[in-house]
Amino acid sequence: MKLGIVKEVRFDERRVAVTPSTAGRLVKAGWSVVIERGAGAAASYPDNEYSAAGATIVENAAEIWAVCDVVVKVRPPELRSDGTCEADAMRPGATLISFLFPGQNTPLVEHLATRKINVVAVDCIPRISRAQKVDALSSMANIAGYRAVVEAANRFGSFFTGQFTAAGKVPPAKVLVIGAGVAGLAAIAAAKALGAIVRAFDVRPSVADQIKSLGGEFLTVELEESGEGQGGYAKQMSKEFIDAEMALFREQAKDVNIVITTALIPGKPAPKLWTADMVELMKPGSVVVDLAAEQGGNCDLTVPGEETVAHGVTIIGFTDLASRMAHVASELYGTNLWHLLDEMGGAENHKIDLENDIVRGALVLHDGEKTWPPPPPKKVETEVKASREGKLPAAAAAAAAAPKVAEPAKKNGHGHGAPAPKPPSPQAGMILAIVGLIAAGGWFALRYGSADASVSRGTAELLQHLTVFVMAVFVGWQVVWNVAPALHTPLMSVTNAISGIIVVGGLIGGAVSDLHTDSIVAITATLFATINIAGGFLVTRRMLAMFRK
Ligand code: NAI
Repeated sequence: MKLGIVKEVRFDERRVAVTPSTAGRLVKAGWSVVIERGAGAAASYPDNEYSAAGATIVENAAEIWAVCDVVVKVRPPELRSDGTCEADAMRPGATLISFLFPGQNTPLVEHLATRKINVVAVDCIPRISRAQKVDALSSMANIAGYRAVVEAANRFGSFFTGQFTAAGKVPPAKVLVIGAGVAGLAAIAAAKALGAIVRAFDVRPSVADQIKSLGGEFLTVELEESGEGQGGYAKQMSKEFIDAEMALFREQAKDVNIVITTALIPGKPAPKLWTADMVELMKPGSVVVDLAAEQGGNCDLTVPGEETVAHGVTIIGFTDLASRMAHVASELYGTNLWHLLDEMGGAENHKIDLENDIVRGALVLHDGEKTWPPPPPKKVETEVKASREGKLPAAAAAAAAAPKVAEPAKKNGHGHGAPAPKPPSPQAGMILAIVGLIAAGGWFALRYGSADASVSRGTAELLQHLTVFVMAVFVGWQVVWNVAPALHTPLMSVTNAISGIIVVGGLIGGAVSDLHTDSIVAITATLFATINIAGGFLVTRRMLAMFRK
């Protein structure tokens, strides 16, 4: 199977669909990878790295379009003013994978349909939990959110973090983020990491905890109306709500220095939320970064793709924020594509599987037949992607020193790629319970069944302790395995406190002149509890070291 990567033709696009590392993985998986000379240069991936990874370099795109079974790129293929298209040379039955935005690019979709090709739009990947590793839209929005803060910081004439210096006091910057989706949360994390005071507003109340966990303040309006739409997206709000929201923003405009707008409702033009009079209310030197510029902008004064100044306020409407971090954006996009190709059967069994929810959701053309919008997925997955449930992509989380996430694959609660621990098997619990019951039964039998009172009392005491021990093991087992892995750290503190009590008891029990069974058990208990406490401190030290800069 031949997979081709063409150089992006749009003037401001620096990303490349596949990086050398992804190319190497594809080659190992059996793909014959062909790439246009210089395709990765703008993203700092030279040709020799692709060659070293096993890819073949060709001189021009025509050699790729005409022969490859699958062609991958970043931007939608260009529809030229003369009516021809960049992808015209594709052979019937071949597959194109790229961003496409079919809802906004009808003429392009109709043109591609005449080629009888398959087209998979990565922006249409359904937002279901299984598709997180394929979700290129989120990968790029995460980068855009981070970059928006970097762009704002570059224009803002002061520190983000407050400073007390010998020359005077500098107040911290105040940042308002409108819309706390993937891009908004990444912006909150980045602004917070730079030391700003961050406030955020969203119509979906479910994001409040995510904002707070990143150190932001969640702003609300008096009106109770949820903007929770389908699949974690927002729905259109009532006029009353928007009016209340605007009143809130008007108040904020006088106070904040930086506004980052990311509000989006799928299939609708971007809502106008930052009006011209709000810009006028802002202090000169303030900055507005409008991420929704490509969809018309959230700010009245945004010029898509441009940086303008109005009333002394800089308004940034760049539409290429992810491309401005082309190196990492290409790496993440390439990984998303790698997983998507895997969903499509890999090199060995590559096919358009209409039964696969991810492929079907993103399929726009199948042998030239329009298949978009797709029918609702057969298996209704109500669980939306991790980023909407507090799991930001790792970069953003690390920036805020509040790791929440996992990208690309959904990982376990420990934040590592290792498989999550299995829940306790009911059988194990049952066995422990039975052992406990037998021990308790034995204690009763010995306590009340023996004629020699002193013998029976001693044995009975031992059995009593044994019963407590077995029951403690049973309860401990259930507690540890049923507590979410994310809560294992506080659980460890609790067990350390218990170990402390054991050490005290053990020291009292073991502080005798002659050694006998009780004192040996007490000394052993002290030893084990001490190991537990020391181990707890070591683990905590290692964890803290991970956050030390
Ligand atoms: P998303 O759908 O995850 O987030 C949008 C958020 O806006 C949602 O949380 C939604 O509840 C909120 N929202 C909707 N209406 C609102 C209102 N009236 N008030 C407050 N919040 C409201 O989208 P994502 O992936 O975070 O992308 C955000 C924006 O960034 C999009 O417009 C996207 O196209 C854009 N983007 C821009 C890039 C650039 O280079 N400029 C690159 C990548 C994304």
